[in-house]
Amino acid sequence: MADKVTRCTLQEVHGIPLLEPIVQHWEKVEAFQAFPEDLLIVTYPKAGTTWTQEIVDLILHGGDAEMVRRAPTNTRMPFLEFSSPKASHPGITQLEKMDPPRVIKSHLPIQLLPKSFWESGSKVIYVARNPKDTLVSYFHFDRMNMVQPEPGPWSGYQKKFMEGQLGWGSWYEHVKGYWKEKDKRNIHYLFFEDMKENPAREIQRIAKFLGHRLSEDILNNIVQLTTFDAMRENPMANYSSVPGNIFDRKASDFLRKGEVGDWKNHLSPEENAAFEKHYVETMSDCEIPFRFVI
Ligand code: A3P
Repeated sequence: MADKVTRCTLQEVHGIPLLEPIVQHWEKVEAFQAFPEDLLIVTYPKAGTTWTQEIVDLILHGGDAEMVRRAPTNTRMPFLEFSSPKASHPGITQLEKMDPPRVIKSHLPIQLLPKSFWESGSKVIYVARNPKDTLVSYFHFDRMNMVQPEPGPWSGYQKKFMEGQLGWGSWYEHVKGYWKEKDKRNIHYLFFEDMKENPAREIQRIAKFLGHRLSEDILNNIVQLTTFDAMRENPMANYSSVPGNIFDRKASDFLRKGEVGDWKNHLSPEENAAFEKHYVETMSDCEIPFRFVI
């Protein structure tokens, strides 16, 4: 029988709560050496990281589905800061064996990113998703991922989200941090809701940022290969390689719903009003065009 996994606690690095094993190995993350050809995909958790990774890998391989099925997502595009109780910095270990251009995933807020990304001028794609759907998605993820801290009840979870007490800290500060820097640095800032509304347009924009031009055929192919249904069926994109003692699929799937507006099925009218009030206050210093429905 597979080992029982113990959920991690959170500890802080420079005031940001992260999984305890990541904090244990923080020096290694801080010292990570990025190359100019590297591409970083960075998000607050549950913003559509995996979806964007699949799109980017397909763009880089001319829409070749077989090439992109060469390995699971986290092997193709390692998770920079990740460490678990069983494996210290597997992402960095793997990245050190890869030649640039490497595609790297991270959830770090801008102030915690290793400096070498800015020094080397690596391209950065930031994906943002409206906070209500992010909150719902994170809650279900914490229910199913046995390495993440215990989510506790739904009402308390909302409070933790609003107060920035979940892993990787405040959603509000995260999205603002990259937004404020996007025009000064090499950052392509995109929205989950836009990808959902018009995937072809957003894929073309990503391709342009990466210096690629996609033919109509290749673009259509990438749109088809990265629909929610196609990715859900794709064992190299749906995290089915993660063992069941870590991802409890009885609690939730990793590719769960992939929708805009699922928050309406979770937040009561009172909860929604409180969330909304807090959102308006917290975001008043930075206008980011988030959409809660499309
Ligand atoms: P839900 O929990 O709302 O379904 P991340 O990769 O950053 O962890 O984000 C996971 C979220 O993105 C999940 O949201 C997942 O279903 C959604 N997602 C992944 N691939 C998608 C796709 N191709 N289309 C739409 N949503 C997708």
